Amino acid sequence: TLSAQIRDHHFDHILLNAAGVMCQTTEELDQIIETSNTGAVVTKSATTAPRPGNPKPRYHEMQDNLGTINSMGLPNEGFDYYLDYVLDKQNTTSKSIFFSIAGLTKQENIDMLHRLQDSNFNGLVELNLSCPNVPGKPQTAYDFEATQAILEEAFAFFTGDLGVKLPPYFDIVHFNQIAEVLNQFPLAFVNTINSIGNGLVIDPETDTVVIKPKGGFGGLGGTIVKATALANVRALRQRLNSSIKVIGTGGVTSGRDVYDLILCGADLIEIGSQLAIEGTPVFDRVTDELTAILKAKGYDNLNQVRGQLQII
Ligand code: DHB
Repeated sequence: TLSAQIRDHHFDHILLNAAGVMCQTTEELDQIIETSNTGAVVTKSATTAPRPGNPKPRYHEMQDNLGTINSMGLPNEGFDYYLDYVLDKQNTTSKSIFFSIAGLTKQENIDMLHRLQDSNFNGLVELNLSCPNVPGKPQTAYDFEATQAILEEAFAFFTGDLGVKLPPYFDIVHFNQIAEVLNQFPLAFVNTINSIGNGLVIDPETDTVVIKPKGGFGGLGGTIVKATALANVRALRQRLNSSIKVIGTGGVTSGRDVYDLILCGADLIEIGSQLAIEGTPVFDRVTDELTAILKAKGYDNLNQVRGQLQII
């Protein structure tokens, strides 16, 4: 009953890892696939060349499970490493694979999309337009013209199942503007939200920032971003073509959080911060909590919940 579909890709479970968490190495990726209550695996956003990422400490968990702050800086093993992995793995796993790419320039993204197009990869591709942590590189999806330009170039040749990872928006006009861009393209999905970019967390004992890169500025995730995630899923579901599926990401620590994102219209759900905090047991726990909520409400199918948020 907790299944979903994007085009030809079937998901037996709606929960996935969010890109960036437990997905940098083949061992971590295998772990996500082998966890029973995941529907797919998402690879760490790749750049053409391997990157060490930003100096450490670059990830911090706030007190009282309020959330996390990170400025990883795209540490990854490079495009070839992930392509080798997925081409091998797609023959042996029944779970879907999302290949995430985050080129530092438009051309780098187009080059990686060409290489995916020319490969035998048959999974989904997530174009990450929202990494907030590379010094000097703004989040592409806050620039509507740049977003339009890269999607025009991509869909001129790319025929696979392509979606985009978006940053959170905070203005109704911006919801309208990004939806107007995205609706021009045959996107398979939109994934919302990436971290809330460039927050700042202070250690009260030492009066210092808690992460080293960028003077302490970093992307926020976890509990404190949930309301922003719900708003972005809801606002985009209300505006996007029905052919574009919505992956809801942000602030999921419980089954109720998943339920709320589905009420807002999400098709699949990703867990980032809480997966980093709790490890793969989070998928079983959250699934059990969600199943209990559905049972208590007398539902046997997520379609009875999806998009059914009530207004007053
Ligand atoms: C990183 C963070 C992100 O939010 C993202 O989308 C891609 C990369 C990072 O810092 O590694």
